Amino acid sequence: MTAAGRPPPRPEIIEAITGHRSIRRFRADPVDDATLDALIACAQAAPTSSHKQAYSVIRVDDSATRAILAEIAEEEEWLPIAPLVLVWCADLNRVRTVVHAAGQPAAYDNMEEFMVAVIDATLAATYAYVAAELIGLGGVLVGGLRNDPARVTEALRLPELVAPLFGMCLGFPDEDPQVKPRLPRPVVLHQDTYDPTGLVAEIAAYDDIVSSYYQERETNRRRTTWTSEMIRKFAQPERPHMRAFLESQGFRFD
Ligand SMILES: Cc1cc2nc3c(=O)[nH]c(=O)nc-3n(C[C@H](O)[C@H](O)[C@H](O)COP(=O)(O)O)c2cc1C
Repeated sequence: MTAAGRPPPRPEIIEAITGHRSIRRFRADPVDDATLDALIACAQAAPTSSHKQAYSVIRVDDSATRAILAEIAEEEEWLPIAPLVLVWCADLNRVRTVVHAAGQPAAYDNMEEFMVAVIDATLAATYAYVAAELIGLGGVLVGGLRNDPARVTEALRLPELVAPLFGMCLGFPDEDPQVKPRLPRPVVLHQDTYDPTGLVAEIAAYDDIVSSYYQERETNRRRTTWTSEMIRKFAQPERPHMRAFLESQGFRFD
């Protein structure tokens, strides 16, 4: 049922998508190559800025490389054993190579093209992730790779103008966690112009919902609210090394 009070068309699709939760425990069953191929086809079907397709994805099976990624992300419990590990990368190397090979200059070194690559990679990953969930897989994204993106780059031998953004672990779920409540719709969806009216009251109510979720969920119960989590998350700049790393990979932000 939507907030508007009527069931949406094809409610089973909406229910499947809104039933998302990150999965961090997997059955041993592998994800076969045909399934991976289908997921990458879905990723490639995503919209892409001016058809630039400015991303690459690295499948990581090698156990030594997995161990490095797990150490970097501090996710040693499940990253080494997840049936499928993909690392999604912003990639301006491919377009630059092709344009240069045609003997033409390429203005890749600016903020806009960096954003294009990040947006393209994220959309592609999202299509693959949603497709995976719709066919019964589950998984989790791994932003922790950005704890040491230079080491990830070295381990995956990423060339200049390719930057790891996040990992994605996928497999058949071996847990059934609760759905984590999202922000109230009115603070996310605005009509015609941005309207912050009612934000404080909406978030206070949401904090109660999130607090109950954290106290009632099956694992890692704790007393917290969304506001407390955001205060903690925003107490200090996260990963202040990112700009220097990206510049060392050849990205520019002018
Ligand atoms: C870009 C990105 C990076 C993430 N990185 C991690 C991570 O390193 N470790 C982890 O356990 N979860 C990670 N997550 C999962 C989020 O914590 C999770 O999606 C969020 O708390 C909402 O929970 P849900 O996915 O179960 O609904 C990441 C999610 C995103 C979108």
